[in-house]
Amino acid sequence: MRWDDGTLVLLDQTKLPDEEVYLRCESPEEVAAAIQRLSVRGAPAIGVAAAYGAVLAANGCREPEPGDFRRAVSGKLEMLRAARPTAVNLPWAIDRMLGVLDRVAGRDPAAQRAALLEEAQAIEREDVDACEALGRFGAELIPDRATVLTHCNAGALATAGRGTALAVVYAAAAAGKDVRVLSDETRPLLQGARLTAWECQKMGVPVTVLCDNAAGWILSRGDVDRIVVGADRIAANGDVANKIGTYPLAVLAREHGVPFYVAAPTSTVDLAVATGREIPIEERSPEEVTSPRGLRVTPEGVSALNPAFDVTPHELVAAIITEQGIAEAPYVESLARLVREGSGAARSG
Ligand code: MRU
Repeated sequence: MRWDDGTLVLLDQTKLPDEEVYLRCESPEEVAAAIQRLSVRGAPAIGVAAAYGAVLAANGCREPEPGDFRRAVSGKLEMLRAARPTAVNLPWAIDRMLGVLDRVAGRDPAAQRAALLEEAQAIEREDVDACEALGRFGAELIPDRATVLTHCNAGALATAGRGTALAVVYAAAAAGKDVRVLSDETRPLLQGARLTAWECQKMGVPVTVLCDNAAGWILSRGDVDRIVVGADRIAANGDVANKIGTYPLAVLAREHGVPFYVAAPTSTVDLAVATGREIPIEERSPEEVTSPRGLRVTPEGVSALNPAFDVTPHELVAAIITEQGIAEAPYVESLARLVREGSGAARSG
């Protein structure tokens, strides 16, 4: 993702791995549509894209009165906020942009636009730094000669930086550890098979794809040393919403004594949500299941359930790796402390 002189340029992830096509978004509506169809996806990346969407909204708004400007821009921000419901980085970024609008209210629109662009760039920069820092913390938890199982794509494609779960792998490899990735294919949209495999290959990290339903057998054979996944929203008690299929992996990890780690920036922690039961779970179109990549696999007329995320109870999570350090149980205390430190760091940075 790149800001190119008034345009948000996105690598269209729906086309990977076959084609590397870049989308040029020139309006907040185009950014919202790109988020909805998963051209840009992954919790931190959605937040950064939405922040630039806010800049596009401000740039496209030519209201003469400052009051009208704020009303028009904040209307577009609410449209962006509604693009997807589960990843908290989206409303988190929108709230930061609204906070800027409040701070600069009364200035002329050009000054407000400049302030919004600065904030979007700050959100992007902080995410790059968070990926680096959490990667380094997480690498300590990865032994040499490790096989790391991951689910979905929590890599560079899903953030502004080097990723979350995959940043841990990249940092372990950079520290000289011999590490290889097992990537669940991640039905129905195949983020693991298409994106994690593509990205690891580019990064020179050995990667092998497996069907989601092979994970239990592979774990039972003792072929996995660690499981590391990302997150879309983490509740105050440490319950973790992530891509559908994460929860069964955590149950399997417990059964087979494999540490199950979650890697996420503190911007993914939602202290306003006490437990995972309160996290809104996106339901996507049944066609994504019945006709993956346009090829129907069910009898005509049969529908499908398609929840995009599930919630892993905190009891199954061995540690949550953030850019402020590693949180362990009791998460109510450790997460609150790290989030406090994270927002302090963002203010002083
Ligand atoms: O539906 P997606 O592809 O946006 O889901 C993404 C995930 O579930 C990721 O694991 C999560 O956002 C973490 S990305 C660093």
